[in-house]
Amino acid sequence: MINVKIDISKCLPFVDQTGFQSITEEVVRQYKTLLSGTGKGNDHLGWLHLPSLVTPGFVDQIKEASDRIRSNSKFFVVIGIGGSYLGARAVIEALSNPFSALNPDNEKTCVVYAGENLSEDYHSALLALLDKVDYSVAVISKSGTTTEPAVAFRIIKSHLEKKYGREKAAGRIIAITDASKGALKKMAEIENYSTYVIPDDIGGRYSVLTPVGLLPIAAAGFDIGKLLEGARMMEDLVFSTPDPSVNPAVIYAAIRNALYRNGKTVEIMVNYEPRLFYFMEWYKQLFGESEGKENKGIFPAGVTFTTDLHSMGQYIQEGLRNLFETIISVENSNKLMKVPADPENLDGLNYLAGKKLTEINYMAEIGTMLAHVDGGVPNIRLSIPAINEETIGQLIYFFEFSCALSGYTLGVNPFDQPGVESYKKNMFALLGKPGYEQKGIELRERLGK
Ligand code: PA5
Repeated sequence: MINVKIDISKCLPFVDQTGFQSITEEVVRQYKTLLSGTGKGNDHLGWLHLPSLVTPGFVDQIKEASDRIRSNSKFFVVIGIGGSYLGARAVIEALSNPFSALNPDNEKTCVVYAGENLSEDYHSALLALLDKVDYSVAVISKSGTTTEPAVAFRIIKSHLEKKYGREKAAGRIIAITDASKGALKKMAEIENYSTYVIPDDIGGRYSVLTPVGLLPIAAAGFDIGKLLEGARMMEDLVFSTPDPSVNPAVIYAAIRNALYRNGKTVEIMVNYEPRLFYFMEWYKQLFGESEGKENKGIFPAGVTFTTDLHSMGQYIQEGLRNLFETIISVENSNKLMKVPADPENLDGLNYLAGKKLTEINYMAEIGTMLAHVDGGVPNIRLSIPAINEETIGQLIYFFEFSCALSGYTLGVNPFDQPGVESYKKNMFALLGKPGYEQKGIELRERLGK
């Protein structure tokens, strides 16, 4: 059963009805382009049928690999950046107890991340932790040449080899990379690491349902079968019809583009569950890299409420009116917690006694939605009954499909990321990478060095 519901009623006053109708028709045309594989970037559509193509045998293979990791490792270090780590982190953090890593009785393998930044302090602190525990490593890079994960892997590989010896260390390393290209692939062959392939036709930010996401998620103890089942349900729904009264991805792509054409250039993803923080980061990467090009695109942002109502709330209520919000509303908690009664009522909170926190959170959510709509910020509402593998799987596929449709409607190729290269070239030139000498001279001149 599909659990993701979309409500755009709080956006309709902000768009012209005829314009919205014609954008919806445009999205339906783009839907047909996407399904027929004739649009831009059509060599990167491997994710489209991924949920229904993953076989039970492959799921079992990933589960067996994760069982091995869980049996000999207290920590599992996932090395990757961008699409090579955000999907896994989004799912793991959404499903995890936020305090499990601090709980001395926690017996689960804990997933930690490296190579998604270049901080010396971060990686030093990680090694200090890894000194004390048994661990394994997944190094994930489609290109196999991205600097941040490559540097982190060099450091962690050396630590692992000192700890276990080269041969045993190799048994604790899993490389997830291209089938034939890149330095990581070559290294994996020479060092005899176990490997998983990232298919050629699936880009990093669409790869969470490949081993890139599935292995870390399974190693963290979550049910990847249910995650894929949720995604498969959404795949079935969105493929069944482009009818906007049935297909939530068509509605979402249409309303985003309609708002954008009415000057709403920033979408703020809103959650009221802190464990969705990394899901929001994944959404930001998916839409930011897919749509932000050719000097256009909706800027994807994110806030966690009610926390950020005390920081960003003022701006959203009264700042520049180029914003719209998309709320991920979670209807039920997995655990029960009520406000206790207090006979003295010194804090004056007895009017809340006996209420569940979810009920209070929900009142904050709808109160905020109405206030922001009154302030000129249209609100899209996506609701799910609860956070679990199946609903997260549905949301993942919903956003992937919507993003492709929305990008096509915007007129861009949602599957490339040419702009990411610019910073890399400068960094290589400044670090003295062979082949970048001339650029290095030019940049140092500009910097006056
Ligand atoms: O979505 C993408 O394609 C990017 O964010 C990549 O995942 C990111 O740049 C990492 O690239 P790679 O997996 O080649 O190391």
